[in-house]
Amino acid sequence: MPEEEAATPDSTAVRVALWRALHTQVDPVPHVLEDEVGLRLVAPDDDWRRRPDMDPVFTGGFRAAIVARARFIEDLVAEQADRGVGQYVLLGAGLDTFAERRPEIASRLRVFEVDRPGPQAWKRRRLIELGFGVPEWLRFVPVDFEADSWWEELTAAGFDPGRPPVVASTGVSMYLTKEANTAMLGQIASFAPGSTLAMTFLVPSAAGVPRPGRPSRIRDCRGRRPSVGYTFHQLLRPERHAGTGSRRRLSNRPARADVGYGRAVLRQSR
Ligand SMILES: C[S@@+](CC[C@H](N)C(=O)[O-])C[C@H]1O[C@@H](n2cnc3c(N)ncnc32)[C@H](O)[C@@H]1O
Repeated sequence: MPEEEAATPDSTAVRVALWRALHTQVDPVPHVLEDEVGLRLVAPDDDWRRRPDMDPVFTGGFRAAIVARARFIEDLVAEQADRGVGQYVLLGAGLDTFAERRPEIASRLRVFEVDRPGPQAWKRRRLIELGFGVPEWLRFVPVDFEADSWWEELTAAGFDPGRPPVVASTGVSMYLTKEANTAMLGQIASFAPGSTLAMTFLVPSAAGVPRPGRPSRIRDCRGRRPSVGYTFHQLLRPERHAGTGSRRRLSNRPARADVGYGRAVLRQSR
């Protein structure tokens, strides 16, 4: 597929970017995160806040979860950078804007944004149009997790497998098949000791979570379906994936039983 044909942003990435911007516009200070760069990238129509999925009251819980996970990851990356970690891998980076908002930290790292080719081409173009550019330390890794070897592409982009990274995967696993998730976690488990994985996932017991393969039934406060729907493919059970990988253990510490925010540190097997 020619890259140019599909050079459009991913709708789920747009939604969370707009939720992050909405946080700064409708929620009281102090804000968990200040991120309106994603809004600038998307450049929606002036009435974007009237989208059904931007209802400020109904989407309050989603918005809180989105900014909390982004802030959690950013604090983690800052902490790890201070400890000398030099690589940051964003799996399914979407419209993440850490590199643009926190260049004082990001420029000390090699930042690898991994996502589909089309949305990445679009994001690259928008970053250049807005004057952010794409600095040498920011590497785009265009892959489809279902079809390509993201590991090979990551290495080709300059990732050093001999050194530990921080790996973030937020809002991605539920869109992937079991095979892609299993392969991804297995590959991450082979990363260098000292690597850190932070990921979010939906577990089957989460209230309101649609069954895999079924369209979302989320509606706004007036009962309307969001204009842009989505379908989850896989919900993860942390207990099944802890231990993924043959050589090293993944110790998983979900912060909540249903939402599934997990942070895993790779350690050598005893
Ligand atoms: C909900 S967005 C999350 C973006 C970002 N991690 C965040 O939290 O703002 C999901 C992202 O996963 C990416 N994604 C979904 N399926 C993918 C696949 N098969 N290969 C590569 N990326 C994929 C989408 O393009 C999108 O950018």
